Order: sequence, then C-alpha cells, then structure tokens
Amino acid sequence: MALRKIVLQGDECLNKVCRPVTEFNPHLHQLLDDLGETLLAADGAGLAAPQVGVLRRVCVVLDEDTREMIELVNPKIIAESGEQEGLEGCLSIPGKYAILKRPNQVRVSAFDRHGKPFETEGEGLLARAFCHEIEHLDGHLFIEHTNHILTDQELDQYLAQEEREEQQ
Ligand code: NI
Repeated sequence: MALRKIVLQGDECLNKVCRPVTEFNPHLHQLLDDLGETLLAADGAGLAAPQVGVLRRVCVVLDEDTREMIELVNPKIIAESGEQEGLEGCLSIPGKYAILKRPNQVRVSAFDRHGKPFETEGEGLLARAFCHEIEHLDGHLFIEHTNHILTDQELDQYLAQEEREEQQ
C-alpha cells in the first residue's frame, strides 16, 4: 500500500470522463488499497481515482458510522429520494466549502474489487459522499453546484451553529 498524491483543482484529470474498469486485477486492488489509505491519511469522506490522477471509474467512501471503507467500481446512482442541505468540501479543493442541496437517500449499484456486482444505500452524509464521488468520475466538481463559496466567517458561523444543534 502507498499514499498517492491528491491532485488539485486546475489539474486536467479532474475534468475528464473516466473509463470503466474492465479487468479486476491486482492493479485495481492496488489502486483501491491506495485510495483507502490516502483517504484515511487525508481525513476525508471519500476519494475518487481521478483525484490521484487515474482516469478510471473507481472511488472509495468512508462510512462515518461504521468506519467501513466502501469500495465502488463502475458505480451508478440508480435511485434517489428526499433532499438535504449541508456543508460540502473536496480534498482537491482545499479550504473551500459550500452549502449544497443533495438527495437525502441514494441507492448505488457497483462492482466490488473482484468484479461481483452489488447494491448499497446511503442516507445523509453517506448519500452526499456517494453523489460527490460518483460525480468526480464524470469530471464534475461540487463547486459547479453553487455560486457561493463560504467565507471564513460564514464557515465558522455554520460550524458553530451545527455544534449548537448537536448539543441540543
Ligand atoms: Ni471531491
């Protein structure tokens, strides 16, 4: 396993449509291992292959409740419902955050690292992470959904408000 370098906004890898995985080989397993390790080291919620310069439809999402690393190969969102509004950021756009609307529940179909198809569901933060990471595979970034990046002051206010709500 190895840490990979996360590319930043402006790198052309982040604007490309990624190709599907066709071979579920040791090369893919290495990529998934590295994505997971890099995500944990960066303390993020999800990481997509193009963020480490690999233009393949692969991403990992950390389930914050179970601490399970969910590996998604060739993922597709097959159903979504509800709506949530919340804070979103991206490891490739450090320091920038926005309040975005996302569906509150999503259902995803994907393949595991051995090529076995499966479906999974996410709600709340997990649904947000699935939407965010899968968009990366089509060359899209969360900032395309907003025209307002929070100022430092707005971010502080939002986080303080969230903390108050958690304590209630
Ligand atoms: Ni991102």
